[in-house]
Amino acid sequence: MTKRTPLIAGNWKMNLDHLQAVALVQKLHWTLKDAKHEDGSVEVAVFPPFTDIRSVQTLIDADRIPFTLGAQDLSTHDDGAYTGEVSGAFLAKLDVKQVIIGHSERREYHAEGDDVVAAKVAAALKHGLVPVICVGETSEDLEKFGASAVPVAQLEKALAGVSSDADIVVAYEPVWAIGSGQAATPQQAQEVCAKLREVIASSLGAEAAARTRVLYGGSVKSANIASFMREPDVDGALVGGASLKVDEFAAIIRFEK
Ligand code: G3P
Repeated sequence: MTKRTPLIAGNWKMNLDHLQAVALVQKLHWTLKDAKHEDGSVEVAVFPPFTDIRSVQTLIDADRIPFTLGAQDLSTHDDGAYTGEVSGAFLAKLDVKQVIIGHSERREYHAEGDDVVAAKVAAALKHGLVPVICVGETSEDLEKFGASAVPVAQLEKALAGVSSDADIVVAYEPVWAIGSGQAATPQQAQEVCAKLREVIASSLGAEAAARTRVLYGGSVKSANIASFMREPDVDGALVGGASLKVDEFAAIIRFEK
């Protein structure tokens, strides 16, 4: 069976200016010295606001910090008269490797539907960025359709134009668990992540399903990360609030199964 490197990713959302971002990355790196991310057995990724990316990239580069740099969004366009947009081409030039797409906050506050998500996935891949495709159900969806129907349908649409050799990450983030302090149970996460892996298999093939990392996100903290990581189809976590606190995020990264 393909071995998937666990990915612990911090989505900072609209938090931390560039000075605070640099300070956090420096402290996190020192806190993690000699931890397993140094030998590549866990991948650590940070997703700062756009305005922080250049500063964080300079630091990572200068101090050879083994964190992957990510962005929280990108434009569907390459360049041109699109005020306020940021192109995947520009992100790639800043050594950005991954980009979050389809986060529930963008679906809700920016009315991004499945068509926009699919177009952003295509834009990311076009520029050599790994799309971190977020899917998840609201509490109303959960009541009406159960846990997996909405995330499965969202992922099917996001993968419609994707080729089987594409490098992607999928994140299952139940909307009701985000920032609520009420995480899904490890069993709930496993059940949906396994279904999402089936979608990857039917859309992109068995090899892609075996190598693609599927993350869980929603109120992940140091006290619950190990229980998620013990599940066979959960390959890591997309962490919001807890990624803003150095000691807490370091403890999540140091999870022991
Ligand atoms: O993308 C991460 C996220 O939405 C989860 O946020 O604060 O519940 O860890 P949080």
